[in-house]
Amino acid sequence: MPRVFSGIQPSGELHIGNYLGAVRNWIDLQDKHECLISIVDYHSITQDFDPSELTTKTMDMAISLLAAGIDPEKCTLFVQSHVPEHTELSWILTTVTPLGELERMTQFKDKSRRQESIPAGLLNYPILQAADILLYRADLVPVGEDQVQHLELVREIARKWNARYKADFFPEPKAMVGTAKRIVGLDGETKMSKSLGNTIGIVDEPERIWEQLKPAKTDPARVTRNDPGDPEKCNLYTLHHYFSNEATVNNVADQCRNAGWGCLDCKKVLAQGISSHLEPVRERGAELRADPGRVAEILRDGAKAAGRLARETMSEVREHMGVMRAARSQGSHT
Ligand code: TRP
Repeated sequence: MPRVFSGIQPSGELHIGNYLGAVRNWIDLQDKHECLISIVDYHSITQDFDPSELTTKTMDMAISLLAAGIDPEKCTLFVQSHVPEHTELSWILTTVTPLGELERMTQFKDKSRRQESIPAGLLNYPILQAADILLYRADLVPVGEDQVQHLELVREIARKWNARYKADFFPEPKAMVGTAKRIVGLDGETKMSKSLGNTIGIVDEPERIWEQLKPAKTDPARVTRNDPGDPEKCNLYTLHHYFSNEATVNNVADQCRNAGWGCLDCKKVLAQGISSHLEPVRERGAELRADPGRVAEILRDGAKAAGRLARETMSEVREHMGVMRAARSQGSHT
């Protein structure tokens, strides 16, 4: 059975962009694959973050993932920092990663442009990502389009380590990019992103969904109520494809083209569609929120299962590299 690994930063609650872009894929995969999903808190500290919020955001992400349909019976869900082997392997992989490749990464270039002093962690971010994946010798990595370049580097790191230690040990993981179009934020400008406030959360209440949708950007040609529009130029029309049925989607397009409906009418229908589509997610989210002990338990069991696999890999890695074994202390069973 192919092994799947993916990671997501603890940005708090999932939004529909994350959901359509990646998480929906994970949920489909968990039935037929061995799946590990990690909330990668050590990646999130490479950029500005608030220590007083990190734990809450990690917990909120776990709740969102479970509410969205990640099933702990089928899939190992855990927090990256709970399995310290991620950082350990990451160090080892720094020694086979070409600096030039790291500097070439688009995300590094984007993120470092915005900083006065660039932390080395931002540069080394893809190495930690490589460690996440290679630690479990995963075959498939379902991610958004923006991670394809990182995955190419992960494959190179695997090849380099294999070559250096004459071991055919790490498989070269394949990126698996979902079919969803890139989901643009409600401002109609950039990627949907929680920090930009242009999102709809998957556990948002219907009132909140409406608040977010009401001012959302539509086809700029529709200046007044009677101007006809082009649905293909409207970001919300894309969302209708995911959250409304086919008849509604067709009707929406007609009403837009001949100015039968105003944008607000169209948004009301979309708000309805999103609210009802996400109702079961909202309900599961509320149940989990009321039972944080249960969530902590799921994450603990996940870290246990992941830790077992991680320790196996690390012991083989050290052996291939000729790293001295520690003597076992008396009475130790490990
Ligand atoms: N860099 C990924 C992102 O921002 C998150 C991530 C970290 C990840 N480790 C990973 C994704 C391993 C896939 C596999 O989306």
